Amino acid sequence: MEIVITSDPESAAVIAADAIERLLKIEPNPVLGLATGSSPLPIYHELIRRYQRGIISFAHARAFLLDEYVGLEPGHPEAYKSFIQREFTGQVDLPHDALDGPDGTTKGLQSAPEAYETLIREAGGIDLQLLGIGSDGHIGFNEPTSSLGSRTRLKTLTDATRRDNARFFDNDIDAVPRHVLTQGIGTILDARHLVLIATGESKAAPIALAVEGPLTAMIPASALQLHPRVTVLVDEAAASGLLNANYYREAYENKPDWQPI
Ligand code: GLP
Repeated sequence: MEIVITSDPESAAVIAADAIERLLKIEPNPVLGLATGSSPLPIYHELIRRYQRGIISFAHARAFLLDEYVGLEPGHPEAYKSFIQREFTGQVDLPHDALDGPDGTTKGLQSAPEAYETLIREAGGIDLQLLGIGSDGHIGFNEPTSSLGSRTRLKTLTDATRRDNARFFDNDIDAVPRHVLTQGIGTILDARHLVLIATGESKAAPIALAVEGPLTAMIPASALQLHPRVTVLVDEAAASGLLNANYYREAYENKPDWQPI
């Protein structure tokens, strides 16, 4: 696991955008895994800027969402598909039909998880998966005690997560769906490169547990310890609970030029 500590969220976003730019240039048909939430927004804004300057193109890319609420009507502004189209994919040249997310409409809910796994598999798997982290250590919507081998499936959100996400629903917790579809932890671990971004003091505790704590289903993000290629991008505030912060800084500062994240 590589832990990169940056002075501010924007510098973390530049490092993630550099990795995505490299992938877009190397892979003829790159497959991106996209996360929602506020943490990855600076990455998307940086990528939009690079697209507008003609540095990168998403014309041959595909993108898969990590998760989706169940039961919101299609096009609901807080559905994750609407969110990502508004904040990112609708502002670059990713073809409209190249973006997929789990189908969280109640029609066909039972078949949606397997259908989503099949779509990802048929696309050749995900090259680079962006991740945020919830205050309880969740990734995607895999709440604590999610099986570390889980695949895409229906989950019930904890009250804590519904409270965290109420800010997107006019602070009305009752408006936050109780159920979601999420890539499982096993699905996430299948991606070839995982890039987790966490910024701000509220992420210090879950980051410390995920990176330096024991592997446990109680902290789903600790499953990243099992993956051979993980980059954790944290600003100083989110890094403030890390015991080995100085070692991570030293390792990154002395990284060979030929070794990108
Ligand atoms: C939601 C999303 C996660 C995200 C988390 C943290 O639960 N399903 O993918 O990582 O929120 O969001 P934020 O980055 O806004 O703190």
